[in-house]
Amino acid sequence: MVLDALIKIKNEVDPTLTFRRSRHEGICGSCAMNIDGCNGLVCLTKIESESSASMITPLPHMFVIKDLVVDMTNFYNQYKSIEPWLKRKNPPETKGKEVLQSKKDRAKLDGIKWLEEGN
Ligand code: FES
Repeated sequence: MVLDALIKIKNEVDPTLTFRRSRHEGICGSCAMNIDGCNGLVCLTKIESESSASMITPLPHMFVIKDLVVDMTNFYNQYKSIEPWLKRKNPPETKGKEVLQSKKDRAKLDGIKWLEEGN
């Protein structure tokens, strides 16, 4: 994976190379970069050939903080403005406490139970 190559470069060639990553699982998005002109997650992007070079750059249209790290402030402000999370029609009175998800509700999100019930 491209992320492995970046880690190798950081460990063996240039310890000042700076980039974001987390758990290498393709979920968090922290390792998003531009790889050969396409935006993607370097932890999920395979190195096609050891003999060809790749161009790895920071995400385009974002301010660069250092090397491959971009300023995510605008992204998080936009993300927050669209409120991309689940909302209840009738929210319970929580008094600041966490509302735990039931197994039945989780099954609906997983889609399996939801489909079995014909919804
Ligand atoms: S390290 Fe989290 S998506 Fe790549």
